[in-house]
Amino acid sequence: MQYVTVQGEEVPALGLGTWELDGSDCRRAVAEALELGYRHIDTAQGYGNEGEIGQVLGTAPVDRGEIFLATKIDNSNHAPDAVRRSTEESLRRLGTDYVDLLLVHWPVEFRRLPATLEAMRGLHDDGKVRHLGVSNFTPPQLERALELAPIFCDQVEFHPFLAQSSLLELARKHDFMLTAYSPLARGAALADAVLAEIADRHHKHPAQVVLRWLLDHENVAAVPKASSRAHLESNLAVFDFSLSGEEREQIAGLDRGDRIIDPPFAPDWER
Ligand SMILES: NC(=O)c1ccc[n+]([C@@H]2O[C@H](COP(=O)([O-])OP(=O)(O)OC[C@H]3O[C@@H](n4cnc5c(N)ncnc54)[C@H](OP(=O)(O)O)[C@@H]3O)[C@@H](O)[C@H]2O)c1
Repeated sequence: MQYVTVQGEEVPALGLGTWELDGSDCRRAVAEALELGYRHIDTAQGYGNEGEIGQVLGTAPVDRGEIFLATKIDNSNHAPDAVRRSTEESLRRLGTDYVDLLLVHWPVEFRRLPATLEAMRGLHDDGKVRHLGVSNFTPPQLERALELAPIFCDQVEFHPFLAQSSLLELARKHDFMLTAYSPLARGAALADAVLAEIADRHHKHPAQVVLRWLLDHENVAAVPKASSRAHLESNLAVFDFSLSGEEREQIAGLDRGDRIIDPPFAPDWER
C-alpha cells in the first residue's frame, strides 16, 4: 500500500468507495476488501450502508486503529445540533467510537458553514472525529473553509477527463488531502483508447493506469468503488509499476472538463 502524507499523518492512498454498495453485497465487498489489504473506507450518511460497514468492522480480523474510516454529513444535517446528532448516529451504525474523517458532503448551506464547522470541531474535541473535511467544495469555498477550521480533506470528482488543477495547487499549498471520487469516471475511463494503449504497454488494466496516475499526484488519495473480488484485487495492484513522464502527460492531455456528478444542489463549479 502507498500512503499519502497529510499534515504529518499517513493515510492509505487507495481506499474503497462504497456508494451504491448495499446490504449483503456491501458486507461481502467490504469484508473482501479488508482481507485483500484495503485500509481506507469511504462511506456517507446518505449511502445507507454505514450499518453494513459497521457489521463487517465489528467482526473483521483487523484492528480498528489500522483503518482510515471516512463518512459524510448529509445535506439535511448541517445545523449544529443535527451535525452532532447525525454523527453520533453514524458512529452507532459504524460500531465505532470515532471516525477518522468527517466530511461536509456538499456545500448546500454554505452560509451556515461557520456553525457547521464549529459543531464538527466540538465532535473533534470530544474525540469522536479525528479530522474535519469537506467534499464538493470549489477552490474559493475551500479557501473560506480553511479560514474557519483545520481542513484535512476536500473530496471531489477527479479523473483523467476532469483535471482539478486549482484544487491540486491548493492541496499542496495548504497540505490537505485531495481525495479523488469517481476516479474511474464511473467506468467511462475504461473505454478510452489512450488509456488502453498505455495499459497494454504495461500489461495492466486501464483502471490500474488511471489509479496509478491519480496517486502519482502529491496529496492525492483515490476511492474507487468495486463490488467484485476481481475488481477489488485489480484496483489494489497499482503499486508494482510506474508511468513514464510522457505517459503521465498523455493522460493529463485527456482533460476535457467532463463532470459526471452534477446534481441540482451542486455549487457553481466555475466560481
Ligand atoms: N463525495 C461525493 O459527493 C461522492 C460522489 C461520488 C462518489 N463518491 C465516492 O467515490 C466512490 C467511487 O466513485 P463511483 O462509485 O462514483 O465511481 P468509480 O469508482 O469511478 O467507478 C465505479 C465503477 O467502476 C467499476 N470498476 C471498478 N473497478 C473496476 C475494474 N478494475 N475494472 C473494471 N471496472 C471496474 C465498478 O464496477 P463493479 O461495482 O462491478 O466492481 C463500478 O461500476 C464512491 O463509491 C463514493 O465512495 C463520493
